[in-house]
Amino acid sequence: MQLLLATTNEGKVQELKQLLSDRGLEIVGLGDRAVDEDIETGTTFEENALLKARYYHRMTGMTTIADDSGLEVDALDGAPGVYSARYGGPTDADRTNKLLEEIRGVPGEKRGARFVCAAAIVWDKGERVFEDEARGILLDHTRGAGGFGYDPIFFYPPLGKTFAELTREEKEIVSHRGRAFRRLKEWLLSSPLLDSPESSDRIEDSTGNLRPQQIKGDL
Ligand code: IMP
Repeated sequence: MQLLLATTNEGKVQELKQLLSDRGLEIVGLGDRAVDEDIETGTTFEENALLKARYYHRMTGMTTIADDSGLEVDALDGAPGVYSARYGGPTDADRTNKLLEEIRGVPGEKRGARFVCAAAIVWDKGERVFEDEARGILLDHTRGAGGFGYDPIFFYPPLGKTFAELTREEKEIVSHRGRAFRRLKEWLLSSPLLDSPESSDRIEDSTGNLRPQQIKGDL
């Protein structure tokens, strides 16, 4: 079964290919189907992931997966949140510096933050969203050279390292994205969608109605 991954980021396509390669699942990226338009106009990660997945599903007719992620900082009431990619400037360094500036002087015990990822899947008869998080503490300086985005200031206590100090495999296990996509995969592998696209209308909500569903937290 072919799944369209609504991203132009080749790194994400490769990551997802590894994670989702099972039982004949084939991940394809957007390639030249990508549009310039700003589709992520929602106010939550869930909403944005769904907006993107619905958009490309409508455009291509393919079962489509999309994600949205970002960093929520406790001391900033959840900012930058869904605006993580557009916070403080065009480069990762600009954004990290802006955040360091914003939280300068915030004491250690109040420097909590979480990365959040919502992974949505939309097919011809329904939709689902799986959300998960990774909690950590923001440092007052950068550490490590791997990863991207806010990784060098995001300290992950269970491993005693920043996300920028993790190997790719470690990050895939503990990260918000790895967790959310593993949820999606678990669901997909046991879903009627995989066995027969035509039978996906058997998915019902608790009242027995057939309607799009959203799943948050544990399945
Ligand atoms: P996207 O919507 O998944 O592309 O992510 C939006 C923004 O959130 C990125 O541009 C990063 O600034 C931030 N972000 C999301 N995930 C991560 C991560 O794993 N590490 C560091 N920054 C991240």
